Amino acid sequence: MEQNRPVRKAVIPVAGNGTRFLPATKAMPKEMLTIVDRPVVQYAVDEAMQAGIEHIIFVTSRNKTAIEDYFDSAPELIATLTRSGKTTQVTQLEKMLPVAGTVSYTRQQVPLGLGHAVWCARELVGNEPFALLLPDMVSYGRQGCMAGLMELYEEVGGNVIAVEECAPEETSSYGIVAMGTSVQHGFEVTGMVEKPDPSVAPSNYYINGRYILQPEIFELLAGQERGAGNEIQLTDSMQRLAKTQSFHAHPYQGRTFDCGSKRGFIEANVAFSMLRADMRDQLSVSLPEILASHETRVQAA
Ligand code: UTP
Repeated sequence: MEQNRPVRKAVIPVAGNGTRFLPATKAMPKEMLTIVDRPVVQYAVDEAMQAGIEHIIFVTSRNKTAIEDYFDSAPELIATLTRSGKTTQVTQLEKMLPVAGTVSYTRQQVPLGLGHAVWCARELVGNEPFALLLPDMVSYGRQGCMAGLMELYEEVGGNVIAVEECAPEETSSYGIVAMGTSVQHGFEVTGMVEKPDPSVAPSNYYINGRYILQPEIFELLAGQERGAGNEIQLTDSMQRLAKTQSFHAHPYQGRTFDCGSKRGFIEANVAFSMLRADMRDQLSVSLPEILASHETRVQAA
């Protein structure tokens, strides 16, 4: 196997139903829910671009056209803003517009699971390694998670995945890796287990939604049987790929919020607001006040 071929393309699957966010997701993609003032999906695109990715491939579906419109130009809006002298907003919108031809879309016709969504990108990825970012896992740290993963990939090649520590009692909620020999930017993965009971979990490092995968994964996904939740699971094909190719893990030093869950989404909004100079001071006062008054109301009730 040829190693360390450059990773130029990133796949971002956005075809899920987002049932945990109904009713909001009845009429809008969950990836367009905002963290402060930017849609969730923008964080994944920024992270990929900062890591040197040149081309984004969205696996999308019906009722998700808002994502395509968001990454397109908006001439009428720009004209209106320009006429009103709102130059800051015009610059902001122009800066976030991807260069023409660097974003592609393909549709997953039926949401058969993450593994199937990734397989839908096979023609657009071609025969080269690719990054995969699950957009509802939003990471927050000094270095972007994908940039750290690229460093590990440059060191060891093969397949690499980002991991983060969870509380030992929470292993049954995640895909967990078994740790092998250490390398400079991480460690060898000797096994992957989906949602193990804490008593049998091989570690407390969970896969946090960032991957660099070799294209041979597509052949395995093509024949992948349905697994947990009756869905075609990416982890099942990764486990099969690990029999013939190396997997390493990069322990991410930041924190990832699962914005596909209500709790993670609210936490991400608080955390990212506190990074913003225009919001931090006010929120430092108002958030403790809200929590304290809630406490008082609960006690009074
Ligand atoms: P999730 O399982 O978190 O997304 O998949 P979901 O199915 O939309 O969420 P719930 O459980 O119904 O609330 C992780 C990522 O994989 C994509 C999702 O869009 C999300 O970005 N996905 C999932 C697909 O693209 N296709 C699928 O069939 C399943």
